[in-house]
Amino acid sequence: MRPETLAVHAGAEPDAATGAVAPPIHLSTTFAHGPAAERIAGYEYQREGNPTQDRLETALAALESGTAALAFASGMAAMTALLESLPNDSRILIPDDCYTGLRLLAQDFLTRRGIAAVAVDMSDLAAVRVASANGIALIWAETPSNPRLKIADIAALAQIAHAHDALLACDNTFATPVLQQPLALGADVVMHSTTKYFGGHSDVLGGALVFAQHDALYERAAHYRHVTGAIASPFSTWLTLRGCRSLPARMAWHCRNARAVAEFLAAHPRVERVNWPGLHTHAQHAVAAKQMRDFGGMMSVEIRGGRDAALAVASKVKVFTNATSLGGCESLLEHRASVEGEHPVSPQNLLRISVGLEHPDDLVADLAQALA
Ligand SMILES: Cc1ncc(COP(=O)(O)O)c(C=O)c1O
Repeated sequence: MRPETLAVHAGAEPDAATGAVAPPIHLSTTFAHGPAAERIAGYEYQREGNPTQDRLETALAALESGTAALAFASGMAAMTALLESLPNDSRILIPDDCYTGLRLLAQDFLTRRGIAAVAVDMSDLAAVRVASANGIALIWAETPSNPRLKIADIAALAQIAHAHDALLACDNTFATPVLQQPLALGADVVMHSTTKYFGGHSDVLGGALVFAQHDALYERAAHYRHVTGAIASPFSTWLTLRGCRSLPARMAWHCRNARAVAEFLAAHPRVERVNWPGLHTHAQHAVAAKQMRDFGGMMSVEIRGGRDAALAVASKVKVFTNATSLGGCESLLEHRASVEGEHPVSPQNLLRISVGLEHPDDLVADLAQALA
């Protein structure tokens, strides 16, 4: 089945007890069992597993063409469960451009277990090969990356990882499975912040791991989630499940709007550079075109004149809201360096843009008046 159909139907069977077409939210933390803890309907305690979560995991696995999925309380919880499932003293490669949380997790926590995370430009395969030469346990790809929208060749990274008996994990948050299927390209596990496009309405935090195989890695991450309690609430789970149903339809609209915004910005004299993989001027456009169905709703723009010029644009937008996060109906814009804490890595003239579902002409008009 195609993604549009899977998105609507995976994990969407009518409720067996009532015939309800919309899925029930099971709030129960505990489930009746037999006197020797025999399970009656397969469940025991909400933190270990529950029916609302099962539906979401079925949908996530189907959409990513995976074998098994785990839903989490946040994207960071999902990322942590995977990386904490690696052995002590592992060496891993992470992208030089990536979500700040991955960098912080690596430097503040993974180091305690002797895990060394080496930052590499994942769009430079020669650099990845050199960095892999001393042995690696995992390559972490984030493509498109946050916030510079760099593209990594997933199939090529999978080959490099597997040549070293290592895993390839891919943060697919920006693309979503509608636009890009890392498991089909050779990745072993896909991670999502479902807070973004899956939820789709800026009102639910969540994360996911989707696995190519129902294997020992899946078991370790599931055990980690169960024991550390990184599970989402049933209501959050239900909201994310609801978001899945319209994900392909929303992504088509995000992509259409993003093209209009990117083309407008690219032609504007006050713009130094637009980072959107759909533009032919993007350094990895060809790789993006090879592995993505469309180019997504995320971009960043570098404004001529440095930090002050970028902040002036940010202060003038009216339809766009200055806010962090992405993937909701409303268009957001943020001066990324300002939200990166004490040691920002983004260029000071960079504004990250999450293009929403408004009419593209209104978005372009808003940016035009802010750049005037
Ligand atoms: C690409 C990417 N990965 C992971 C995360 C972390 O997800 P969460 O905020 O749901 O923990 C984010 C959050 O912005 C993100 O943009």
